[in-house]
Amino acid sequence: MAIDPVRVLVTGAAGQIGYALVPMIARGVMLGPNQPVILHMLDIPPAAEALNGVKMELIDAAFPLLKGVVATTDVAEACTGVNIAVMVGGFPRKEGMERKDVMSKNVSIYKSQASALEKHAAANCKVLVVANPANTNALILKEFAPSIPEKNITCLTRLDHNRALGQISERLNVQVSDVRNVIIWGNHSSTQYPDVSHATVKTQDGEKPVRELVADDEWLRGDFITTVQQRGAAIIKARKLSSALSAASSACDHIRDWVLGTPEGTWVSMGVYSDGSYNVPAGLIYSFPVTSLNGEWSIVQRLTIDEFSRKKLDATAEELTEEKALAYSCLS
Ligand code: NAD
Ligand code: LMR
Repeated sequence: MAIDPVRVLVTGAAGQIGYALVPMIARGVMLGPNQPVILHMLDIPPAAEALNGVKMELIDAAFPLLKGVVATTDVAEACTGVNIAVMVGGFPRKEGMERKDVMSKNVSIYKSQASALEKHAAANCKVLVVANPANTNALILKEFAPSIPEKNITCLTRLDHNRALGQISERLNVQVSDVRNVIIWGNHSSTQYPDVSHATVKTQDGEKPVRELVADDEWLRGDFITTVQQRGAAIIKARKLSSALSAASSACDHIRDWVLGTPEGTWVSMGVYSDGSYNVPAGLIYSFPVTSLNGEWSIVQRLTIDEFSRKKLDATAEELTEEKALAYSCLS
């Protein structure tokens, strides 16, 4: 029996993440190798010609799962009937810019796109915000799309999660797929807290704590954390452009695990609406460890938080509270 295609919106599709992301979606990396998709690509009028070029390439690549492409600069047309919305469109951070510098440029975009999604997207559309400041853009989107369930609005911290897995794998010279259950707490910014307190590595002698295998607390509490926190800036410095292939791949990981479920015994990090778990203020979009089942994520509960971690969870929450206030001041 034919499977109905899923409509996936990518905003900012003519940009560099968009260019890496749309072929991944069309190849089944996001929703699996049997799920047909219809891509909706949105960009702004100055990028219309480039967007059309991306559409031409998608047609030329003859992806068997790709059942249609909508390429438009009309927000309503782009949002109509979409089941998944990956919000990449916005103004990227350039070398030397702090994330707060891009705040005012982006929150007004997210306010207006919230209304378009609310009016035109399919019921139960799942939203992933990638564009920075990702947590706060997602919060603005949530606040201005009150009829979209708050559990459906998330932001990308999976890239940071994957970066943390990558750093542990490099340090221990183990397969990245054997490392699991790192956590990114908080903001997708340099205050995020990459936490390995509960992370493990699969070894020939069974699952071992990362802390035991690394056995260098100074590194785990120092360089490891700062490397992950600063990785976005390091990529910008090296490429003169922000990360794109890793961001696109992580966006696919985020949606895939949300929709299709997390593997048994494994959690991932997602920026989600805080319900006050771990004494994180409710009403922020904050990155937590989550599992997902039947398309519904849940925050992993009852993990022990030591004093070192507590301070870090609070510091990144404080930054998000400040960002929220700043975002509202930009909108008024
Ligand atoms: P880019 O400049 O290459 O592409 C952005 C695209 O968005 C451009 O094509 C632009 O025309 C388009 N755009 C601008 N305003 C728009 C609007 N109102 N509606 C639709 N499209 C619009 O940037 P990029 O490198 O692809 O990065 C995109 C965003 O993702 C940036 O904000 C970047 O900082 C962020 N980012 C987030 C993560 C993460 O992990 N959360 C990682 C990397 C990058
Ligand atoms: C990243 O983490 O690579 C991006 O969010 C770039 C940035 O603006 O920090």
